[in-house]
Amino acid sequence: MPKLKISPSILSVDFADLKGELKKVSAADWLHIDIMDGHFVPNITIGPLVVKAIKKRINIPLDVHLMVESPERFISDFVAAGSDLLSVHIEAVKEKATDIIRQIKFLGAKAGIALNPQTPLSMIEQLFSEIDLVLLMSVQPGFGGQEFKEEVIDKIKQLREKWQGDIEIDGGINLSNFEKVVEAGASVLVAGSAIFRAKEPSEVIKEMRKG
Ligand code: DX5
Ligand code: ZN
Repeated sequence: MPKLKISPSILSVDFADLKGELKKVSAADWLHIDIMDGHFVPNITIGPLVVKAIKKRINIPLDVHLMVESPERFISDFVAAGSDLLSVHIEAVKEKATDIIRQIKFLGAKAGIALNPQTPLSMIEQLFSEIDLVLLMSVQPGFGGQEFKEEVIDKIKQLREKWQGDIEIDGGINLSNFEKVVEAGASVLVAGSAIFRAKEPSEVIKEMRKG
C-alpha cells in the first residue's frame, strides 16, 4: 500500500490572492489543480499559464486533473508548465487512452486515469500496467463543495483488490469522512473546501495525514 498523501485542491482558494493561499498548504504532499474547459464539465477554470505561475511559488509536486475534452491537445503545454502528475478522464480519452498515457510519460510526467462516479472500473483494467495512479471522483466533476458519494467506498475497495498503485479520491472529502476512505484503500486524498475554508489549513492536513 503506497504512503498516504494529502493533495489540497486550489479550486476553493481566493484566486486574487493565490500566492497567500499557496503558503497555507506548503507542507502538503501534493497540490491538486483542477483544469476545466466548459465542455467536459460545465465550468471553466485555469490554463497552463497559471500552472506555470504556481510552479514558481510552491515546492511540492503539482497534481494536475484535466477535466477537458480531447486532452491530448494540451498535454505538452501542461507538462511544460510544471505538472508532475497529469490525470486525464477515461470518458474523455476512451480508446486513445494508451497513446495519451504514453505521451504524458514520454514528456516526463507521471500519468493518472480519472473516472467519474458512475464509470465502471472495467473501463480501465487494461491500463493498469501503463498508469501511475487511478483517480476516482467521489462527486460529479465540475464544482467544489459537493457532498461525498458513499457508493464510492465500495469502488475503492474493489479497485484496491486489483491495483497496488496510488488511488486518489476527489470530491467531498473532509475531517469526518477521510478515515473510511483511507480504510477502504485510498492513498491520495484531495480536499478543497475542507482545507482552504478551514481556519488552519495546515492543521487539517496534519489531521488527515494520520489516516
Ligand atoms: C471537482 C474537483 C475537485 C474539487 C474538490 O470537480 O475535481 O478537485 O476541487 O473540492 P471539494 O473538496 O470541495 O469537494
Ligand atoms: Zn480534481
